Formats: sequence, C-alpha cells, structure tokens
Amino acid sequence: MRHQVQIKPNEHQFYVESNETVLDAALRQGINLRYGCRNGACGSCKGKVLAGDLHYEDDPIALSDDDKEENLALFCAAMPDSDLVIEVDEIDLDSAIEIKTLPCRVQEMNLLSDDVMQLFIKLPASERLQFLPGQYIDILLEDGRHRSFSIANAPHNDEFLELHIRLVDNGLFTPKVFNSMQAKDLMRIEGPHGSFFFHEDSDRDIILVAGGTGFAPIKSIIEHLIEEQITRTVHLYWGARTKADLYLNELSEKWIASNKNIHYTPVLSDEDAAWSGKTGYVHQAVLDDFNNLEPFDIYTCGPPAMIIAAKEEFQTKGMNPASFYYDSFDFANDQ
Ligand SMILES: Cc1cc2nc3c(=O)[nH]c(=O)nc-3n(C[C@H](O)[C@H](O)[C@H](O)COP(=O)(O)OP(=O)(O)OC[C@H]3O[C@@H](n4cnc5c(N)ncnc54)[C@H](O)[C@@H]3O)c2cc1C
Ligand code: FES
Repeated sequence: MRHQVQIKPNEHQFYVESNETVLDAALRQGINLRYGCRNGACGSCKGKVLAGDLHYEDDPIALSDDDKEENLALFCAAMPDSDLVIEVDEIDLDSAIEIKTLPCRVQEMNLLSDDVMQLFIKLPASERLQFLPGQYIDILLEDGRHRSFSIANAPHNDEFLELHIRLVDNGLFTPKVFNSMQAKDLMRIEGPHGSFFFHEDSDRDIILVAGGTGFAPIKSIIEHLIEEQITRTVHLYWGARTKADLYLNELSEKWIASNKNIHYTPVLSDEDAAWSGKTGYVHQAVLDDFNNLEPFDIYTCGPPAMIIAAKEEFQTKGMNPASFYYDSFDFANDQ
C-alpha cells in the first residue's frame, strides 16, 4: 500500500510504495535527503518522525534505544505503515544528477600498498558519469549485492573513474580485486551516490580529514579545488597505520609544493622510530592544532570509529555540526 510522506519544515511531499524505504522513494522522486551507507550503519539519514508509524526489516545498527525514544528514525531502512510527517535534512544540489546503472571495463590496476588497489574503470564510449567531488559509486555484484567505493578522480577529469580499494579479509568482493581481477574485466556500476560532496557555496577555510582509503574522495575534492582555482585555505590531515599506508603521500606533497593555500599533515598510528611527523589518531592531530573549529567547513572520510570520534570531539572545540560533512566507510550490511 502507498503512503504519503510530508517533510517539515519545507512541506515537500512524496509517496512511498509498499516494500520501499522512505529514502529510496524520496530519491526516486527527486527529493535529496541526506544519506551515506544506505544500510542503517552510518546514521547520516537520521531524522525525526513527527507523526505516523514505520517499521524496519532488521533493526538498524545506527539507531539506539535513546534514538527510538526520541522518535528518531533511519530513513534509509524505514518503511512506512501509515502516512508520515518527518523532520529531516534535505540537500541543496545545484542540479539533480541522474543516477545511472552502467556496464564498465577495468582499464588499469595499480597496487598502491600491500592492501590498497587503485582501479581505473572505463565507461562505454558514449557515456560519462556526472558526479560531485566526494560522491561514491556502487559496484553491482552478480548475486544482486553491491559494494560502495568513493570516486577518487575529480569531475573534470572523467575519462576513467578512479577507485582506491582496500582489501577486506574474508570479504565477498575486495579479495577478488586482489586475487583474480584483471584489466578488461567487465563490471556493472550504479551511481553517483551520497550526500558527502564539496560545498562550493561557502568561503570558509576547510579542514579535510582522511583515514586510510578515506583519502579517495578527499583526493577528488582537492583536485577539484585546484582545477577550479579555489583559493580557500585547506588543511589536509591523512591518518594511516604506517608510512607505506600513506599510499599517495608523494601526490599530497606535490599539492602543497604547488598550491600555497594547501597544507598537509600526515599522521601515523603505529610506532615508527624513523618517523618524525605526527603520531596517534588523525582526528586528535586536528584537535591538537586548532583551538577553535567554529570557522571551518570540515570534511571527514574513512572508518566509522574515526567519524564517530571526530563528530563528538570536534564539537568540544566549537565545530558547527551543520559544517561537518562525513562519509563513513561502513561494511555492507548483507552478510
Ligand atoms: C559510502 C561508502 C564509501 C566507501 N568507499 C570506500 C573506498 O573508497 N575505499 C574502500 O576501500 N572502502 C570503501 N568503503 C567500504 C567498503 O564498501 C566496504 O569495506 C565493503 O564492505 C568491502 O567489501 P567486501 O565485499 O570485500 O567485504 P564484505 O563482504 O562487505 O565484508 C567483509 C568482512 O567484514 C566483516 N564485517 C562486516 N561488517 C563488519 C563490521 N561492522 N565490523 C567488522 N567486520 C565486519 C564481515 O563479516 C566479513 O567477514 C565505502 C563504504 C561506504 C558505505
Ligand atoms: S544509516 Fe541511513 S544512510 Fe547510513
């Protein structure tokens, strides 16, 4: 049965078909609700139910008992049982970007570290994928499941899509990338997805915090900033376990050598006697360097634990939650 959803305060309305989530229905009808993982794990799509009932197929990880008591819901997993009135963030996109499902071919593979593969994929000759810097694509697997990976190239340089894929032991997809995938292999992708993207309508200084392969969407943002000659001051922090895990350190060094508005701080979490740079958690390095985070737009990308810590602790130094953008690299929730 079909239910109507009304969003407060802007009064936008849309319909949800049976067996459809609120988020899927909204996106299908051109309403850009904020989201990240689309599987109940990251909390990006959380909003308030002001009236009506809904249910979940499985209890979502990112919804606590306290959240439920406060009538909060995760709209990527929630299915209405009645008409709903909800309060939730909508994203301003300059123009609606079409989400496409496309066949593609592996063009080139480069091992960037022991467990990170750089993959360039080629779309059909007549196709280009329009996307915003920071967004991600889903790789569609043969059994109907999908795996999400951020686009590492900037939109102006769109001949190939570049991905940085970290090997997940016992994973369904990433071990295949390292063990059997070869140039010219065929895949299917869907995208672009995600409400983590660079906001051009601000003149504030920027802090970019990447953990591991969280560097991929951050690279897209920086290359976009350089291409567009945006001169806002940028502080890039990249956290990894070892120096070898800073798999494009030289590229980051090149950015700072040729752009005086870009500053770069690599941070290692493992002990290394030969390392003279910062050590510890990458979000802690930001906290150590800035007494007041209020003036900054902050973009954070990487492991869920890093996002949660950054979100909580940056607020103790004045971060404005509305200027905190994040993509949490959650595991797919379909095991
Ligand atoms: C928006 C988004 C963007 C992303 N971008 C990137 C990217 O650019 N680069 C990148 O490397 N990764 C990225 N990721 C993460 C990537 O999609 C996952 O790591 C993916 O699940 C790996 O696929 P897999 O099939 O190899 O492993 P899976 O089959 O998904 O899982 C592998 C193993 O992890 C275990 N597991 C599942 N959930 C958990 C958990 N919560 N904690 C611990 N173990 C668990 C499973 O039991 C299984 O053994 C992104 C994720 C999201 C949501
Ligand atoms: S929890 Fe809904 S998008 Fe991640």
